[in-house]
Amino acid sequence: MSQPKEVPQMEKIVSLAKRRGFVFQSSEIYGGINGFWDYGPLGAELKRNLRDTWWRAMTRDREDVVGLDATIIMHPAIWKASGHVDTFSDPMADCLVTQKRFRADHVEPQSGVVYKWTGATDETGKTSNDTFSALLAAGKPAESARKVGIQFYTQRGLTNPQLLGETTEKVENSRGFNPENGAQLTDPVPFNLMFKTYVGATATEEDKAYLRPETAQAIFAQFKNVVNSTPQRVPFGICQIGKAFRNEVTPRNFTFRSREFEQMELEFFIKPDEAIEAVCGSVAPWSESADLSKPQDNWGWEMWHRYWVKERTDYYAGIGLGADVLDYHWQTKEELAHYARACVDILFKFPFGTEELEGIAARGDFDLTAHQNASRKPQDVFDEEVKNAFAKWTDEQRAALVERKKAEHRAKEKGGMTDAQVDEWCEKLFKGFYVPHVIEPSAGLDRLALAVLSNAYTEVEKTDPKGKSETLYVMRFHPRIAPVKVGVFPLLKNKPELVAKAREVYELLRKNLAAFYDEGGSIGKRYARQDEAGTPFCLTIDFDTLGEKGDDLKDTVTLRHRDDGSQERVKISELLGRLLPLVG
Ligand code: GAP
Repeated sequence: MSQPKEVPQMEKIVSLAKRRGFVFQSSEIYGGINGFWDYGPLGAELKRNLRDTWWRAMTRDREDVVGLDATIIMHPAIWKASGHVDTFSDPMADCLVTQKRFRADHVEPQSGVVYKWTGATDETGKTSNDTFSALLAAGKPAESARKVGIQFYTQRGLTNPQLLGETTEKVENSRGFNPENGAQLTDPVPFNLMFKTYVGATATEEDKAYLRPETAQAIFAQFKNVVNSTPQRVPFGICQIGKAFRNEVTPRNFTFRSREFEQMELEFFIKPDEAIEAVCGSVAPWSESADLSKPQDNWGWEMWHRYWVKERTDYYAGIGLGADVLDYHWQTKEELAHYARACVDILFKFPFGTEELEGIAARGDFDLTAHQNASRKPQDVFDEEVKNAFAKWTDEQRAALVERKKAEHRAKEKGGMTDAQVDEWCEKLFKGFYVPHVIEPSAGLDRLALAVLSNAYTEVEKTDPKGKSETLYVMRFHPRIAPVKVGVFPLLKNKPELVAKAREVYELLRKNLAAFYDEGGSIGKRYARQDEAGTPFCLTIDFDTLGEKGDDLKDTVTLRHRDDGSQERVKISELLGRLLPLVG
């Protein structure tokens, strides 16, 4: 007897997400649109809760971060200055037989024998001199590679083509062939990921604009306006949550790589290390035992970077993503962008592999300087403390700093300042002016929603007294992010006094937390429905609530906890006091 096919974990999550109204395919009734997803009633609440926890952690709970809400379409010069117009691309390759498009660096590397042809001819005398090759899958006969070759030349207008000039060659780990049929792929070409549109009715090239591929650039572009309109002074941050768009070559893994998604980004502006050195005498050195609990005046970029890695890790722990499901990838020197000093990816163990959830980059002064150069509007700040500190330095100390800085920049392979630029930079710094450096924690809201959905998904086998077993699904969301916090049930729906009391409890709660009233089916079925929705608490109003067993239990309800199924009696008057701290 054949074994039932094991359904991959991700498929089960996608199926539950649709069944329970977390995530739907966009435009599904028209066959869907690849890379776009909609959030259903529970998903919309889940996402809102995630957004709120992030916003609270990043701004409301801090004195040194403020928010921004910028437009999706901005002046196209922003994307030129930021480098996105010229370099925000992925390598793309097409299958020469099926025309299927691949992200060239994501093609599974393959080894085997490649069959190459110099061209083909057919019975009508028609000839093609186009070369073509196909990789022979292990264990398959040579004819299967030739079949692919014949398909290629047939598409070039030949009837029953005869392959010409066949040679073979062994290849190892090649990304040059379609893994599905072995056909040769085109050479990779860069494909810019920005969505283009036109602003205004004429729709000419001059009106071309882009949907933002990240929220960060608006923060840089509005940096000076925020400084001028708030009391914030460096070090401080500006954060933003909003839609971003990338025309990904191959959207995949459910919502993980989408074409429309939401980002939650912070740009935290800090003084250059040289300014800290002047003010504090030295820059605090990073070590494994460094105390990162509270920012200190003598922190340079490295301590700030480590601090934000810790802050973000603590944030994830606070919504139920602990050390067991996270990992870190510290980018190597070769992986780092030339302007970045460090970048760490916080990874989550998704069912399809351990992948990036958030990147935290130390980007130096690259972005603000790029906008300063392109817009010709100064992006530097004046810092009295820095000016006063340098005023106390000797000429020798200043000269030594200039020389050190020059040596540092001469050693850079790319993007270093010339000696003259270093002179100018130091001159300004000594007067208290500098372009702030930045630490950028950048997270994806949709990826986070997928992470918490994957993390919450649990299957529980239940056997009834008759021995019949069934699989129940429990979404173990942390109460802070659960879409519904509490389910309220009357024990029986045909007892008006129970229903009235249950509605009274529901009305009391729903003003303060997301509550759901349900009177349909058995209590067991109602618990199961809320377990699938991830509701952490359920309340049942029964005859004891009405005082049938005396005053002791009157106006108490059964509080049932989702994760261990435990139940307790709680006074209605104490419910809010019990529940609010658990879900807030
Ligand atoms: N400003 C820096 C920046 O945008 P990124 O690594 O390209 O950096 C940051 O993106 C985060 O945005 C990623 O860690 C991921 O969570 C999310 N993200 C990026 N591309 C995405 C996509 N196509 N679909 C869903 N989320 C995406």
